[in-house]
Amino acid sequence: MYRSMETSELLKDIKEILIPEEQLQARVRELGEAISRDYRGLNPILVSVLKGAVYFIADLTRAISIPITLDFMAISSYSGGGTASSGVVRLLKDLDEQITERHVLLVEDIIDTGLTASYLLRLLRARNPESLRICTLLDKTSRRIVEDLPIVYRGFEIPDVFVVGYGLDYRQLYRNLPFIGILREEILEGGGVV
Ligand code: IMP
Repeated sequence: MYRSMETSELLKDIKEILIPEEQLQARVRELGEAISRDYRGLNPILVSVLKGAVYFIADLTRAISIPITLDFMAISSYSGGGTASSGVVRLLKDLDEQITERHVLLVEDIIDTGLTASYLLRLLRARNPESLRICTLLDKTSRRIVEDLPIVYRGFEIPDVFVVGYGLDYRQLYRNLPFIGILREEILEGGGVV
């Protein structure tokens, strides 16, 4: 735990630490090792989504021991600032790299209903990559609407609770917590998860 965390102002809004920093880091290292094994010789391109996945991708790529290319997309999902995903996604920043005939790994912070990932997959598939898979840190399987997602790498399956930290936000806050925490209900709009 970072020293600054002991007195962090953000901690008062956290009901419970769901995944401590050490556990996160250990799992991210395992995922990095698995990706290094599976993609050896393939020079994959890791596509990450701003802003939620930046902490994860920064640690994940440092745990990967083969050559990779890194690229970013930015999207906004019309959630109205609340906690429910609408599935309506707007592309704010496209990739800089071409992905045609490349091995593409889409790196996500969390997959909830799956609607956002499904939109991104459609967009990427249209560019004819050689392969296209998903690596997600967190998976809320119980909330899934889209069933056929190619999630090959999964950090943790988590219950249906709203989490923040390690890149994940509530109204743009809490991203800088080094762990995954459950937000107190009274902080969430309307007193509960939508
Ligand atoms: P999906 O389209 O329902 O899969 O939602 C994916 C997006 O919703 C993520 O990229 C997050 O931005 C957001 N999201 C879903 N659950 C959570 C959560 O528990 N905390 C923070 N953001 C979340």
